[in-house]
Amino acid sequence: MKKIHRRQVVVGMFSSLVIGCTSKSSDWCESPSVNDDGEFPEAGSCQATVEEIEGPYYLADAPERTDLHIFGDEGTLVTMSGTIFIDDCTQGMAGAIIEFWHADPDGDYDNTSSEMRYRCRIITDSQGRYQLQTLLPGRYKNGLEFRPRHIHVKVFDSDNVERLTTQLYFEGDPYIECDSFAHTSNVVPFTGSEETELLAESVDFVIV
Ligand SMILES: [Fe+2]
Repeated sequence: MKKIHRRQVVVGMFSSLVIGCTSKSSDWCESPSVNDDGEFPEAGSCQATVEEIEGPYYLADAPERTDLHIFGDEGTLVTMSGTIFIDDCTQGMAGAIIEFWHADPDGDYDNTSSEMRYRCRIITDSQGRYQLQTLLPGRYKNGLEFRPRHIHVKVFDSDNVERLTTQLYFEGDPYIECDSFAHTSNVVPFTGSEETELLAESVDFVIV
């Protein structure tokens, strides 16, 4: 596996974030960073974050908040931060709305309560930055197979126009490899461990 420098923890921005998949059974396991000629773009090149499906559990109008470790559940603390970039990969998208939603530590979504547990919207600051604290999502079954742990993401610009829908995964999760939906460029190399806590900086998104 290719060694990844912390500053290259960018979702869709730098081509150097390539995490291999040994299986060839799914097209989704191919690296998205390879261009049409089968070559890797130069390091530092700007690439849009790869879109993924919304899934069946999205709910609009999630509360504005940055901390989802508020429901009294036990679990692994996850803290991540980053920037929403426009497609030049240098200019942050100020005032953008980034929504996160994910399963609770037991793998269940809150689809009915007024708490809208493990769902939030965050407004980016003047430099397009955000920060989220939550608990590690549990795995749940999609048919007969478990999906890897993941966090769903949507981004809206400051005019409230939807610009991106995708998902984030946790590096090392053995269920990523041939999940039907997971894209390797959306795997985040968190530091720490599931036994302590997980941290990732520069989990950035590039919007085209
Ligand atoms: Fe999901």
